[in-house]
Amino acid sequence: MIVTIDGPAGAGKSSIARLAATRLGFAFLDTGAMYRCVTHAALQQTRSQDAADPWSDPERLLQIAEGCQIDFDDGRVLLNGEDVSDAIRTPEVTRHIRFAADHPQVRTRLNVQQRRIAAGQDIVTEGRDQGTEVFPDAECKIFLTASPEVRAQRRQQQLAASGKQVQLEEVLADQNRRDLEDRLREVGRLRPAEDAVVVNTDGLQPDEVLEKVLQIVRQTAT
Ligand code: DC
Repeated sequence: MIVTIDGPAGAGKSSIARLAATRLGFAFLDTGAMYRCVTHAALQQTRSQDAADPWSDPERLLQIAEGCQIDFDDGRVLLNGEDVSDAIRTPEVTRHIRFAADHPQVRTRLNVQQRRIAAGQDIVTEGRDQGTEVFPDAECKIFLTASPEVRAQRRQQQLAASGKQVQLEEVLADQNRRDLEDRLREVGRLRPAEDAVVVNTDGLQPDEVLEKVLQIVRQTAT
């Protein structure tokens, strides 16, 4: 069974999808990590070479994506064998991610890899386009969302917990920019699939969201 969880940045998709997968005994796929890996690899190349600039050269960026062997091992993200779980979460990677996410051939390549990973196993897969583009026939599709203010507040609290104090306005501005990029993308844009169940998490605690998600999956499975 394939469960897709899509939604905007900061809706709590990653943690809920991961927990739901554990509770269901399913595999878990974080597709955002794959776009982050390609972006991280491109950033590494811009630092180490005078070669064509991948940000203004789509061919170069595709070549870099083709050189990315991405694996998931026990919750860690491996890029060509190296653990990049933390390196792909920097603000610099997030700022540059649209180059890979807006690139149709990079998307096609990652979509193929995502389908390959999902083949033959029960999986919860999380991203922006899982229910619409990558797994249009998935049995269970969930679109997790929350108001921009609530998402920004949660993000601010997460950052504070990791020792970073950031103004709410700054978090909100950054999030609005990402929302716009995600929604206006020509391919793989963020939108709920027609047959997705939309869950608005405003005012819900994480364990309540998890229970709601599990309930939707169980209802679909019966
Ligand atoms: O979920 P995340 O924040 O780690 O995702 C990082 C970026 O990757 C996000 O801003 C948009 C892009 N992305 C995408 O275009 N398609 C996906 N299926 C997953 C992520």
